[in-house]
Amino acid sequence: MKPKIILITGSSGLIGSEAVEHFDRAGHEVHGVDNNMRQVFFGVPGDTTWNLNRLRSVAKNFTHHDLDIRDRNGLATLFRKHRFDLVVHCAAQPSHDKARDIPILDFEVNALGTVNLLEATRQHCPEAVFVLLSTNKVYGDAPNELPLQELETRWEYARPENYEGIDENCRIDRTLHSLFGASKASADLMAQEYGRYFGMKVGVFRGGCLTGPSHSGVELHGFLSYLIKVALSGGKYTVFGYKGKQVRDQIHSHDVASLFQEFYKSPRCGEVYNMGGGRKNSVSILETIDILADMGYQLKHTYKETNRTGDHICYISDLTKIHSHFPNWKQQYDLPAIIGEIVAARRAATA
Ligand SMILES: NC(=O)c1ccc[n+]([C@@H]2O[C@H](COP(=O)([O-])OP(=O)(O)OC[C@H]3O[C@@H](n4cnc5c(N)ncnc54)[C@H](O)[C@@H]3O)[C@@H](O)[C@H]2O)c1
Repeated sequence: MKPKIILITGSSGLIGSEAVEHFDRAGHEVHGVDNNMRQVFFGVPGDTTWNLNRLRSVAKNFTHHDLDIRDRNGLATLFRKHRFDLVVHCAAQPSHDKARDIPILDFEVNALGTVNLLEATRQHCPEAVFVLLSTNKVYGDAPNELPLQELETRWEYARPENYEGIDENCRIDRTLHSLFGASKASADLMAQEYGRYFGMKVGVFRGGCLTGPSHSGVELHGFLSYLIKVALSGGKYTVFGYKGKQVRDQIHSHDVASLFQEFYKSPRCGEVYNMGGGRKNSVSILETIDILADMGYQLKHTYKETNRTGDHICYISDLTKIHSHFPNWKQQYDLPAIIGEIVAARRAATA
């Protein structure tokens, strides 16, 4: 691929920073937008400065812009200065629990911030490919309507036809989203609209559990990273509801970034994808605790009967559509590799 000019929002966060490294390694000119708002949402543990400093030291052709995606004038200045070929929009308020306390800020960042970026792209570089990081929370709790069976360590789909998990046909309305899910669903719909109505090359990727060592994991966001952090530090973890048997599929940020590259090569207008680790990378909280115990890390945990509002009981992303549109895309990280890498990164950080 010839060098391209690429904008990545949320560039100091988990997925944004991985995308910066990925496209920088491939020889492109990468611009990152991040105002460290994760620290505003989650306090000091959410501070992403360490990751920005890391990026500055490893990336060769990376420029950081300390800009808020709610700042339309700031975005217009940035877009006038650089004609982007690809926009990867990862900046967000990412926690469904947190949104309850800050509904207006959550909506401004997630919904309006996304429209600001879509519109800036349409005004200044309408030929660019636009990738939106959406979430499986756009389905609200509709996935919980599937019949489930209780196994020893996890909830499991009861019907064989659901084995691969949730596909893109799951409905997104008449369901309990959490305010976060609703603000992200607004962004998701607007992005689809810019694709379908204006014919722009927009891909909407509805993430399951996205993870990796660059997560500034906090209790309210980043389940695996936070759980490992607590297990290694000897702290106490609270499991909320569903007997700890709730299932998530884990995908490594590296595999997310490589998928975006595939979409850049073969974009479509307003296409939606469910993106997660899929069946083979699915794991319940109890199973995660067991895996860590086998590695020598006993997690002290307590149990609260009340589940998180709108929480999924068993969510596995059906990856059939992704594999059919992007046959060259292969996940490089299985579950042991993901967990092993996060553990190693935590140990290095605290050594
Ligand atoms: N991590 C997951 O499990 C997961 C799952 C599904 C979807 N997603 C989505 O993927 C995207 C990236 O998630 P992540 O895990 O990398 O989150 P993250 O919190 O690690 O990264 C988001 C970054 O955006 C920045 N940011 C927030 N508001 C901003 C603003 N107004 N202006 C500029 N920068 C701002 C934050 O400082 C942070 O660095 C989000 O849209 C999230 O909803 C994540």
